[in-house]
Amino acid sequence: MTTVRDVRKNDGEQPITMLTAYDAPTAGIVDEAGVDVVLVGDSVGNASLGYETTLPVTVDDLARHVGAVSRVTEEALVVADMPFLSYGVDEGESVENAGRMLKEEGAEAVKLESGPHTVSLTETMTQLGIPVMAHLGLTPQHVNQYGGYPRQGTDPEAAERIRELALAHEEAGAFSLVLEHVPSNLAAEVTDTLEIPTIGIGAGPDCDGQVLVVDDAIGLSEWSPSFAKRFGDVRGEMESAVEEYVAAVESGEFPGAEHSHEEGDLEDIY
Ligand code: KIV
Repeated sequence: MTTVRDVRKNDGEQPITMLTAYDAPTAGIVDEAGVDVVLVGDSVGNASLGYETTLPVTVDDLARHVGAVSRVTEEALVVADMPFLSYGVDEGESVENAGRMLKEEGAEAVKLESGPHTVSLTETMTQLGIPVMAHLGLTPQHVNQYGGYPRQGTDPEAAERIRELALAHEEAGAFSLVLEHVPSNLAAEVTDTLEIPTIGIGAGPDCDGQVLVVDDAIGLSEWSPSFAKRFGDVRGEMESAVEEYVAAVESGEFPGAEHSHEEGDLEDIY
């Protein structure tokens, strides 16, 4: 079983693998394939709930998906991503929302999209026994501030802010740090500086681990970001299976005798 301690102690020899999952069948496949960390991302909003952004995802939404994932995950560490405004406004409420993921839904850690406002919250949660994965660079919950999903850390001041915040979150007790859509040389530098592992998404090859949204990785998403890679064509497989089903029903080929049964006694009823 992968623990927070295993992730924190990663020595860079073997990169950490992390994928999102939002439902039990996907989590089961991801876990059996040997992925180290399953992130129940708030990307569930775009990937599964039909929203354009992650902002409408609620604590109840996330909790339902965390429960489904943690019930079937045996080996990987399950991390719950805290939804927009479920943390960082009021400390007590933030702790309660995050604690619910561990107490009621079986997660082992939470991820917070991080900034200056999450440093002391990370310390509080860590001290209370809620392990925190920090997240810097592109934080999609800031989509309205960014006006989209632009690359981050691309000028010296922005890069310095990321370096400082990375160190501040390590000092506050975060056990790992996601770096999203930042230049690979910046990610490499942060990775060298920190004791805790970095997990990159669109952050180049030098992080201690990599994460992708599972729908992008398996080729289910209709659209995926330029830094993602499709390792399969699940969308194509689903499309052809559904098309075959429609054709078989319409032609009368399905259901056949092998999918049907008859009960002799029923003849007496009519
Ligand atoms: O919500 C999510 O899926 C994430 C990953 C992209 C890191 O935050």
